Amino acid sequence: MNNFVIAGNWKMNTNIETTISIIKNVAEQVDQLNEVKSTIVICPPFTNIYVAVQEAKKSKHNLHVGAQNCHFEESGAFTGEISLDMIKSLNCDYVIVGHSERRAYFNETNADINKKLKAVLKNNLKVILCIGETLEDRQSHKTFDVLETQLNGCLQDIVENDMKNIIIAYEPVWAIGTGVSAKTEEIEEAHNWLRNYCEKKYANAGKTVALLYGGSLNDKNAPEILNVSNVNGGLIGGASLVPEKFVSIIKTAESLSK
Ligand code: PGA
Repeated sequence: MNNFVIAGNWKMNTNIETTISIIKNVAEQVDQLNEVKSTIVICPPFTNIYVAVQEAKKSKHNLHVGAQNCHFEESGAFTGEISLDMIKSLNCDYVIVGHSERRAYFNETNADINKKLKAVLKNNLKVILCIGETLEDRQSHKTFDVLETQLNGCLQDIVENDMKNIIIAYEPVWAIGTGVSAKTEEIEEAHNWLRNYCEKKYANAGKTVALLYGGSLNDKNAPEILNVSNVNGGLIGGASLVPEKFVSIIKTAESLSK
């Protein structure tokens, strides 16, 4: 298995000044490490990506910057939207698609997410695809049906070779932003199911595709969660805005790396 992916999703937080100060702080701490095996990705709001990339470049390690969303069309009359050409010209290299907040508040469907995912790949960027069930889904024992429907829809027409540029983040909606993560047994069950799904669909790439956990992952629970089988990293919201916490999660990943 590859090393861990530790990705921060800043959501609609930070401005230019705070973006610079958080990344500077993270870079200073990470630069004290001789070697970093994990892939570190920071996803600020669109307006702050430019300065985030400039600041991240100052680190001696490779700090990647990503976008939180994109539009699937190349250009045109889509007021307020951001194309992949725009994102690519910022020199960032990851795009999150299908976050549950986009699904819930902006009515994104699996078909929309599939279009976005294909557009990201066409532009040679990497995708972090988010999936996850709601509390209602879980309570009515529909978790794996929901995950399967999401994956079937979002990965439609995606072939084995595309998978090297895709990361999947399992984020149970009920654990996001609550301060209480899913239990390790629940995470293990979901990640084993996901690995199995990916291996069935993509014989080789399914074995190595990174499966991230997201949902109240923080510096305290990272040692336990990142140690769960088939958890290859985390997508971190709240804790990624606090440099000490984010770096602590990175250090945990480093200590668990082979
Ligand atoms: P959280 O967010 O870590 O604040 O729960 C995770 C996410 O939504 O990606």
